[in-house]
Amino acid sequence: MESLFRLADHEDFFSRRCIWVNGPVIVGAGPSGLATAACLREQGVPFVVLERAECIASLWQKRTYDRLKLHLPKQFCQLPKLPFPEDFPEYPTKKQFIDYLESYAKRFEINPRFNECVQSARYDETSGLWRVKTAEAEYICRWLVVATGENAECVTPDIEGLAEFSGEVIHVCDYKSGEKFKGKKVLVVGCGNSGMEVSLDLCNHNASPSIVCRSSVHVLPREILGKSTFELAVLLMKWLPLWLVDKLLLIFAWLVLGNIEKYGLKRPATGPLEYKNTMGKTPVLDIGALEKIRSGDIKVVPGIKRLSRGQVELGNGEKLDVDSVVLATGYRSNVPSWLQEGEFFSKNGFPKAPFPHGWKGNAGLYAVGFTRRGLSGASSDAMRIAQDIGQAWKEDTKQKKQTTACHRRCISQF
Ligand SMILES: Cc1cc2nc3c(=O)[nH]c(=O)nc-3n(C[C@H](O)[C@H](O)[C@H](O)COP(=O)(O)OP(=O)(O)OC[C@H]3O[C@@H](n4cnc5c(N)ncnc54)[C@H](O)[C@@H]3O)c2cc1C
Ligand SMILES: NC(=O)c1ccc[n+]([C@@H]2O[C@H](COP(=O)([O-])OP(=O)(O)OC[C@H]3O[C@@H](n4cnc5c(N)ncnc54)[C@H](OP(=O)(O)O)[C@@H]3O)[C@@H](O)[C@H]2O)c1
Repeated sequence: MESLFRLADHEDFFSRRCIWVNGPVIVGAGPSGLATAACLREQGVPFVVLERAECIASLWQKRTYDRLKLHLPKQFCQLPKLPFPEDFPEYPTKKQFIDYLESYAKRFEINPRFNECVQSARYDETSGLWRVKTAEAEYICRWLVVATGENAECVTPDIEGLAEFSGEVIHVCDYKSGEKFKGKKVLVVGCGNSGMEVSLDLCNHNASPSIVCRSSVHVLPREILGKSTFELAVLLMKWLPLWLVDKLLLIFAWLVLGNIEKYGLKRPATGPLEYKNTMGKTPVLDIGALEKIRSGDIKVVPGIKRLSRGQVELGNGEKLDVDSVVLATGYRSNVPSWLQEGEFFSKNGFPKAPFPHGWKGNAGLYAVGFTRRGLSGASSDAMRIAQDIGQAWKEDTKQKKQTTACHRRCISQF
């Protein structure tokens, strides 16, 4: 057995429980992990889901603000095999989405192992198996599905003077509502969807936000003539080339929103879809922040030079008094910190191959939810992965009954 797993030569072999998993280990119980698990359930493939938090969809449950709603119409956000309830609105609230995910997990009997943060995973060439370690146990499996998300860790920038700043500094993942900022001057760093929506929320709670827009951003209306801009773009893409759809989107945006550059929101040189494809940056879908920018309730400011006790100095030399800072500076993947592999994933924690090819690596490795296409991209990955593993599982169980029986005798199993 030692020669099969090469376990005994590792000093921590005796300190962790060793668990054989029939079927894949899925790392992450967010929408991507749940979608993959549900599709595997339908294929009759057993699985284990490992989740670092104590609940499913921890991004949605613990790291998002109260007023959050899905930005895209519901038909683009539901997971495979179970549509949203019919009475859900066009743009479900965060609570509705979480309720849906809870019932999804129940329906497909997905019971993740909570509080199990994967610390490392590597492929053992000799045995042809994956070794996945958490603080409690080592899981051994033939297939590994990475579902830890594009937004696993918060990005906190290195801003000069940040440590000396006397007021509160939070990342947007800890922002719940503007209530506690009433009457305060708040610097919101970053003008993506989070920065824009939090600035709007701050205004609605009688705070005075200034939003830092250090480079450029595409702002589009969430809807054009009552139709979702995203849906319209999907429709147009069926008939027209991307560059033309981009041009049309910009014309529509100009008709609905006017010229946003005069408010300090510079547009990138390339169109919104091309910018998303090449730079991975999602356009902002406006749900009211622009109106507040126009009225002067939200002030747009350039990049930060430095912070001091109660002030920020901007790139243009202007100084502003600031009570609190909200860092809406984005997120990153954490895959490089735990997956010991260099072929399929690149250093930024995303698969090297572009959509739709980034779901399958070598030696039973898969990635779900790294398409930069939100929930619809995750669903499409999940279905492909489950079909692929399902096929291999069926062939495997036919051929290798003897070997599996041998594994089962040696270590505990799921
Ligand atoms: C504020 C906000 C709003 C968004 N709104 C939308 C929207 O409206 N529509 C849309 O399509 N997309 C939206 N997104 C994008 C969002 O990332 C996806 O909707 C969705 O959450 C992706 O699901 P996921 O399962 O891939 O990742 P996540 O939801 O991030 O889930 C990953 C899970 O993996 C767990 N995990 C991470 N590392 C480990 C580890 N080492 N070991 C064990 N578990 C681990 C995490 O705890 C987490 O539960 C939004 C993102 C943010 C930040
Ligand atoms: N309701 C919704 O659907 C919803 C709501 C919120 C978020 N989201 C999604 O969640 C994901 C993350 O969105 P996000 O807005 O949190 O992050 P994001 O899109 O990555 O935006 C981060 C912003 O921070 C800026 N930034 C980073 N470092 C900075 C620094 N040192 N100084 C000044 N600015 C800095 C970036 O500017 P540069 O461009 O110059 O780097 C960018 O404007 C996206 O996919 C988004 O669409 C969805």
